[in-house]
Amino acid sequence: MRPSVAERFGGTANGATGYGATVTENDTWTHVVHAPGRVNLIGDHTDYTGGLVFPMAIDRGTTIRYTPGTDRVVLTSDADPDPIDFTLPVEAEPGTVTPVWGRYVAAMAAELSSSTGIHGTVSSDIPAGAGLSSSAALECAVGLALGSDGTPTDLALAAQRAEHAATGVPTGIMDQLCIAAATAGHATMIDCHTLDITQVPVPGEVDVVVEFIAHRTLVGSAYADRVAECARAESVIGPLRAATLDDISRARHHLDDIAWRRARHVVTENERVRAFASALDGGDYDRAGRLMDASHASLRSDFETSTPDMDAAVERLSTTAGVFGARMTGGGFGGCVVALCQPGALDSGWVVHAARGAHHR
Ligand code: GLA
Repeated sequence: MRPSVAERFGGTANGATGYGATVTENDTWTHVVHAPGRVNLIGDHTDYTGGLVFPMAIDRGTTIRYTPGTDRVVLTSDADPDPIDFTLPVEAEPGTVTPVWGRYVAAMAAELSSSTGIHGTVSSDIPAGAGLSSSAALECAVGLALGSDGTPTDLALAAQRAEHAATGVPTGIMDQLCIAAATAGHATMIDCHTLDITQVPVPGEVDVVVEFIAHRTLVGSAYADRVAECARAESVIGPLRAATLDDISRARHHLDDIAWRRARHVVTENERVRAFASALDGGDYDRAGRLMDASHASLRSDFETSTPDMDAAVERLSTTAGVFGARMTGGGFGGCVVALCQPGALDSGWVVHAARGAHHR
């Protein structure tokens, strides 16, 4: 029998471990916040050019139980024996904080200019490094715990800046905005230029299945290269969010082959997001699945963010009876693949459900 994700990732909410001086499992916390992870159904590597994305917040997430007060942030995690402990206002460069997960916390505290701290525990059942936005969930949960009281978009933009400060990777807005703004039962279609959100119901008559392939980190990956390659394409074509396939054809001999293929992915992917939303809305799951397959092919060949293992998994999944389509999801270079299928069609991976965005409990 395949190990469950929790088994493979070393357990879920086991409570705080190995640290008892300032924070213990027995403390009674007065507040609870929760932020979900997300899986992207279609529309990858489009957000940082202001394109369209179609992520779904999932029923796995990060929970912080805490008590506000004092000028310190003291948190333990069920995934790390080392606590984080720093004084507000944050003085350290967030990218230098240890343990590493503390970087997202410190960066978020710096973004919000927080002066009231929190003591508490963090637990998460989103596997880290799996492309399911564990860091964005942590940022959004920390933002709420530190008193962020703006709109979901305000929270998401602060969390995105925190992600940049913590990692140095120029990621887009998709993960944080989906996690901040999602409503239960819906995917979160986002226009990453206007930040307009359309909540699209995810029909109960299909399963969304996520399968973990390999750990990855976007730090030191070719993610930043992809952002630069898209900028290079835009310097010739103009904003890719507004470009057509004709514009791409015309640019063929004015751009290097890499930038040209990156641009072709972005323009065709934006189109696929629109088509996917209407296929889902119309109950045309065969078409929705074919669009996911085409998205994967484009990410594999034009955008080159897939891996042989992800390609093999997508091939296996998309040729399984009852599966409408499958694709890599998120930043790529490892992480997870996602499939849309008839209920119960797959016994690998795990079925995820469309969850509500970050909230106080
Ligand atoms: C990561 C980034 C997002 C997005 C995806 C690819 O998840 O954080 O902003 O660019 O990769 O779609």
